[in-house]
Amino acid sequence: MQMLIVGIGALGGTIAARALRAGLPVRLAARNTESAEMLRRSGLRVSGIGGEVRADVIDIAAVEDYGKGDQFDLILLATKAQDALEVAPYVVGLLAPEGAILPIQNGGVARVLADRLGERPILGGFSNLGATMVEPGVYEQKNAGHLLIGELAGGVSERVERVARALGRAIEVRVTSNLTGAIWSKLLINCSVTTLGALCSQTMRQYMETEAGKKVFRRTYEEALSVALAIGTRLERLAVDPIPPGWPSNFAAEEHYESWVEAIIAFYGDVKPSMLQDLERGRKTEVDFINGYVVTLGHASGVPVHMNATITDLVHQIERGVLQPTRERMNDLAD
Ligand SMILES: NC(=O)c1ccc[n+]([C@@H]2O[C@H](COP(=O)([O-])OP(=O)(O)OC[C@H]3O[C@@H](n4cnc5c(N)ncnc54)[C@H](OP(=O)(O)O)[C@@H]3O)[C@@H](O)[C@H]2O)c1
Repeated sequence: MQMLIVGIGALGGTIAARALRAGLPVRLAARNTESAEMLRRSGLRVSGIGGEVRADVIDIAAVEDYGKGDQFDLILLATKAQDALEVAPYVVGLLAPEGAILPIQNGGVARVLADRLGERPILGGFSNLGATMVEPGVYEQKNAGHLLIGELAGGVSERVERVARALGRAIEVRVTSNLTGAIWSKLLINCSVTTLGALCSQTMRQYMETEAGKKVFRRTYEEALSVALAIGTRLERLAVDPIPPGWPSNFAAEEHYESWVEAIIAFYGDVKPSMLQDLERGRKTEVDFINGYVVTLGHASGVPVHMNATITDLVHQIERGVLQPTRERMNDLAD
């Protein structure tokens, strides 16, 4: 299986180094000639969970330098969401006849790509594997996570199994027959845990210590959940049950709800939100594919999404430098 990994950042670099180390036929694509040249000189190094590996000789070029004569069975898109949408229409032309693109961003990316480019060439997936980039070419794997992949239309196809077998030689890959349900279950967490943490510059455990934080979390999560169910999503259990106990209206289940929240905090509550890291670095976030995606689908299906719309707008204002992340934001949102 000839593979191309597009986007050699934290996740792409980690996967690429482990794939090369495992002897997979992998070529790499960077944003431009300068970054490709820099990575060719440095090679790739991964440390952390999963052990240390090096790939000193790498076959890398700018994405636009791939073209006629290049054909890939699998193109792994490991860029940020907005870059994935930009680059996918180009790289789809590099696919072998039965080849597939595998986007691994959170949220709506795979679905949007399938709507634009057709479902046939697009698989879906997301990463529970966490990695950071120390500097270009040097990465640290942060946990023993896996990629979860599948068909957007559901079921388990032979091609998904083949991709899992191939990539599974490098990193852990799991296959789901309900990828859309799994993407949405993760999206519910991204919308609430990640984005709210970014807005108020806190971890979930910290912001859930306040009444305002609890109120805003609940409203954000439940709006997104209502959208998921309104569009017919069969949610998949990930770390916790995606549907809170007693939802939508059973007050008697309040203590069960509290334990459900505790389980989310135990799992995600101490992680610094990746979106906060983007904001601190002055980078554009992926909010349009997270809360913004929920808002678009909420409007299309007539589900109220005021909180998610406000949150999306606030993140945009922070991106533009008009606002800053601050813990007071939670009180404003609760009001
Ligand atoms: N890192 C994690 O632990 C983790 C976990 C779960 C999910 N994810 C998701 O995985 C995706 C990637 O995350 P990341 O942390 O690896 O991001 P990242 O470190 O920013 O890496 C993205 C890489 O893509 C490159 N790129 C951008 N446009 C490109 C193009 N047109 N062609 C080729 N390369 C291009 C970027 O280059 P420049 O630096 O030049 O822009 C950068 O090296 C995101 O959607 C993220 O939400 C990440």
